Amino acid sequence: MKTTVSIIKADIGSVGGHICPSQRLLECVKSHVASQCGRIINDFFVSHTGDDVAILMTHTHGVGSDEVHKLAWDAFVAGTECAKEQGLYGAGQDLLKDSFSGNVKGMGPAVAEMEIEERPNEPFLFFAADKTDPGAYNLPVYLAFADPMYNSGLILSPNMAKGFKFCIMDVAYTEGDRLIELNAPEEMYDIAALLRDNERFVVESVYSRETGEIAAVASTTRLHNIAGKYTGKDDPVMLVRVQGAFPATGEMLHPFNIGHYVAGFMRGSHTGPLMPVKMNSTISFFDGPPVVSALAFCVHNGKLTEPADAFDHPYWEYVRAQVSRKATEIRQQGFSGLAMLPYSELEYGGIVQKLGKLDKKFVVKGK
Ligand code: 13P
Ligand code: 13P
Ligand code: MG
Ligand code: MG
Repeated sequence: MKTTVSIIKADIGSVGGHICPSQRLLECVKSHVASQCGRIINDFFVSHTGDDVAILMTHTHGVGSDEVHKLAWDAFVAGTECAKEQGLYGAGQDLLKDSFSGNVKGMGPAVAEMEIEERPNEPFLFFAADKTDPGAYNLPVYLAFADPMYNSGLILSPNMAKGFKFCIMDVAYTEGDRLIELNAPEEMYDIAALLRDNERFVVESVYSRETGEIAAVASTTRLHNIAGKYTGKDDPVMLVRVQGAFPATGEMLHPFNIGHYVAGFMRGSHTGPLMPVKMNSTISFFDGPPVVSALAFCVHNGKLTEPADAFDHPYWEYVRAQVSRKATEIRQQGFSGLAMLPYSELEYGGIVQKLGKLDKKFVVKGK
C-alpha cells in the first residue's frame, strides 16, 4: 500500500518563555486533528520538542497535499487562539502569513514528508529538534548513511552495499529550491565538503541506491528568509526509514551520542551541543542547549503504532551528562569568538543596527 507520512510542526506559543506548549494548547491541536482523522488522514500523533508542536500524520494524498497542509495549518491556527487566550509567550510565532494559501511551505511551519510503498514491516524514526536549525542533521545523516564507523551495515549487510544518494539543498538561495545530488561512497568527499557548512548546505533527502526508495527527508525552512527578520529558530524535523535497505535504528541513532556543536541556543545566535532528549522534553539552560528527540514507529496500512521513545534509555542519560558538560564549557566564554554565531548568521536585528551605528563612528587615522 502507498502511504504518505507527513510531519508538520510549528511553534505557536509557549509557557514561561520558549520552554514548552501548554497542555491546553496541545489538547486544542490534537482535538482539531482528531476531528479530521478517518476523513483526510488515516492516523496521527501529536508531540512537542521544547516549544515546537509536531503533527505526525499518515494519509494517501501524497506529498504537498493542500488538504493535509490545510488541516495542519488550521490546527495551528486553533492552537494559536488558545495560546492567546492563555497569554502564552510568542502565540502564533511560526505562522508567518495571515491566511493559508495551498501549502504550508514558505508560510512558517517546518515540513518533512515522504510517500512510500509500505514494506510488510515499516519501521521509521521521527526526529524533532528545538533551538537549532536544519544543518543540525547534516553530520548525523552523513555518518549514519555514509560512514561504516557508525553504520556497520554498510559493511555487513548486502542490502546497503551500493550506498546512498544524498540530495543537498543550498538554503542561502531564496528564489526556489536549489539542489544537488551526490552519491556515497564515490562522492563522499564532495558530500563532506558541502555538509561541513551547516548554515548554507543542508541534507534535504536521502535515497537507497539498492532499491531507489526514499530513505530520509528533512525540513529545510529558513524562517528569516521568509519573514525577512528573526522570528525564531528554524527548529527542524526529519523522517528516516530504518532496517532492511536502510540503516538499522541503532545505526541511525548512534551519531547523536556526539553532541556535536550546532547553531542555535539562546536567541538563535549561539553555538551549543545538540542534546538527545526524551519525548515532550522542555528547554531550560540558556534557552537550550539545542535538543533533538527521536520517536520510533511502525506503520501498517496507514495505521501507526504507539511511539517508542528512542532516547529514553539509561545509555542516553550518560550522553546527556556529557553533553551538559560541553554546553557548560562553551557557555563559559559568553559572547566571545565561537560561542556566538558569526555576524552573517546573527538573527537579532538589534546587533546589526548597533554595528551599523558604530561603523559611522570609526575614523581612519592620518586622514
Ligand atoms: P536488518 O533486519 O535491517 O537487516 O537489521 C538487522 C539488525 O537487527 C541490526 O540491528
Ligand atoms: P524558538 O525558535 O524555539 O522559539 O527560540 C527562540 C529564541 O530566541 C530562544 O532564545
Ligand atoms: Mg518559541
Ligand atoms: Mg522552538
